[in-house]
Amino acid sequence: MLLRIPHVLTPEELAQVRQLVLSADWADGRITAGSQSGTVKNNRQLPEELPAAQQARHIVSVALARNPQFVTGALPKSVYPPLFNRYSGGSNAFGNHIDNAVRTHAATARHVRTDMACTLFLSDAESYEGGELVVEDTYGEQRIKFTAGDLVMYPGTSVHRVEPVTHGERLACFFWVESMVRSDTQRRLLYDMDMAITALRQQDLTQNRDIDRISPVNGERPEVVKLTGCYHNLLRMWADV
Ligand code: NI
Repeated sequence: MLLRIPHVLTPEELAQVRQLVLSADWADGRITAGSQSGTVKNNRQLPEELPAAQQARHIVSVALARNPQFVTGALPKSVYPPLFNRYSGGSNAFGNHIDNAVRTHAATARHVRTDMACTLFLSDAESYEGGELVVEDTYGEQRIKFTAGDLVMYPGTSVHRVEPVTHGERLACFFWVESMVRSDTQRRLLYDMDMAITALRQQDLTQNRDIDRISPVNGERPEVVKLTGCYHNLLRMWADV
């Protein structure tokens, strides 16, 4: 499942994150690459131990935790602390690769299985040329270039690349998620079901506002209660926590 999550950061948070990371000292992107991806990686990356990286990471982590679409789409068990990269000038592309299956966070020695990869765009799409994230999917190639503050989440199993940035600069935050539900198919089903139930409940609330059908006494429609139960029973069956 490839998911776009809009407005993960508020404009204020976006400005704060940009200011923090852009004023810090950057390193060669190969510091976290594997042996195959290291041969095609040509960008810059913010060393994760820098105070600016820690502060920016905190802002992103808080924003992710409060975002219902991220939580329901990822069902996160463990999130790799967000990293930051930039593509411009001579360091402007990242060729085809698949991310390492397991990332070990150096500071905590914690392992994260990379079920999903996320890119949070930090540059306005109009401010640079090229720089599309290209994800090879069973449905074909997806070319992704979202507006600043929006996030894309895609399966860690995908071959992907970042096209050369030919003008301007592409600044982004990226990280991986280990999900409570390992299977992409099962996660997708749960996500669709959750979205449908949420829409049904919303419709009921809107349509029944005047007659107060939904109240602590009457509760919600039995069908909605049952569907919500099915969601949780599927999650109980599949979740590994
Ligand atoms: Ni990658």
